[in-house]
Amino acid sequence: MNTYEPRVVGDQFALLVAGVVDYAIFMLDPTGTIVTWNEGAQRIKGYTADEVIGRHFSMFYPPDEVRNDKPGWELEVAKREGRYEEEAWRLRKDGTRFWASVVITALRDETGRLRGFGKVTRDLTERKRQEEARSAERDRESALLRAHAKRMEDLERTKTQFLNLASHELRGPLTVIRGYNSMLEEGSIPPDQIPAVARLQEVKLAQMDRLVEQMLETARLEHDAFDMFHETFDLGDVVQEQLDIYRPLSQGHHFVLDADDRPLLVAGDHARVGTIVANLMDNAIKYSPGGGEVRCTTGCRDSHVFVSIRDEGLGIAAEHIPTLFTRFGRLPTQENVTIPGTGLGLFLCKEIAGRHGGDIEVESTAGAGSEFTLVLPAAF
Ligand SMILES: Nc1ncnc2c1ncn2[C@@H]1O[C@H](COP(=O)(O)OP(=O)(O)OP(=O)(O)O)[C@@H](O)[C@H]1O
Ligand SMILES: [Mg+2]
Repeated sequence: MNTYEPRVVGDQFALLVAGVVDYAIFMLDPTGTIVTWNEGAQRIKGYTADEVIGRHFSMFYPPDEVRNDKPGWELEVAKREGRYEEEAWRLRKDGTRFWASVVITALRDETGRLRGFGKVTRDLTERKRQEEARSAERDRESALLRAHAKRMEDLERTKTQFLNLASHELRGPLTVIRGYNSMLEEGSIPPDQIPAVARLQEVKLAQMDRLVEQMLETARLEHDAFDMFHETFDLGDVVQEQLDIYRPLSQGHHFVLDADDRPLLVAGDHARVGTIVANLMDNAIKYSPGGGEVRCTTGCRDSHVFVSIRDEGLGIAAEHIPTLFTRFGRLPTQENVTIPGTGLGLFLCKEIAGRHGGDIEVESTAGAGSEFTLVLPAAF
């Protein structure tokens, strides 16, 4: 009885272990050879007892870990410290990986002699997948928050830039208008010069108008509130309209129109395409302070129509080209100290052209002049 009972308990325990399905529980001899196998081991790893008993347990490890003798090292740790524990990738029979929680326990008899190792493995792949999904979700949320914070910061900076610009750029024309107004009040302007003064005031008012409109357009782009009209119109007409406005304003510039006489139909926002052409003409005049020719060429190539505006002015150094189309992208040139501008013109041109499926191209040589070309998809 005394000798029999423990054996019955031992048998029952062996049966219990053999039937456990959620854990792979098996034993290794002192060299790491597999000596027992249970239901759970078969379920998790995919091997039957016949396929594994007598083989070394390193068969469950990825090849690079076998090369580094990680299995042997784990047994050494278990031998030295009583147990080894880790979570890591292991291989199933079909070659797929699973995330294993592994405990290796050194088994010693009463004399302290090592008899082998007990190994308990759990498949935590699903838990790991859920943890990874949760952490990816957290990463995505924090990236969204960071992007939002950055956007708020950018908006704040833009607002400050707007306010600085507004005060600086609006003050210039305001001062001129106020000056003329007080001269008119005092009666110090001869009556025959009043129409000329009125025209000058008109130019200054137009400058203020343009600046306010540029700031509003930039704000609309910023807030995705950029609603466009859709109509079909002729790019040649737009160029003619803008030439009629700019020709009288120029001082010492010679405007030439080299027009394609075919219809150059475009689908989009007539007024905004007009703004692009206006900005390009404004620049051509402004950045050729010595005068010269401003040549507008219209035409069509492939499925696009274009207008190019070429001046004989200051030109642009190659290293400055990437700055041209950025918001507030005024170039740090000597001349720009005296030439007024906000650096919004080309930024808006590029954005509006892009929203029509088109683009602005530039060719320029410092000191020799520039050519800006608006290219838009043709509407047939
Ligand atoms: N035709 C040109 N020739 C030489 N430089 C130019 C020409 N067009 C633009 N630039 C340079 O590119 C910069 C950006 O031009 P953009 O039209 O965006 O701004 P701006 O003319 O300074 O101000 P805004 O047009 O808003 O009044 C200008 O400051 C100028 O230095
Ligand atoms: Mg400009």
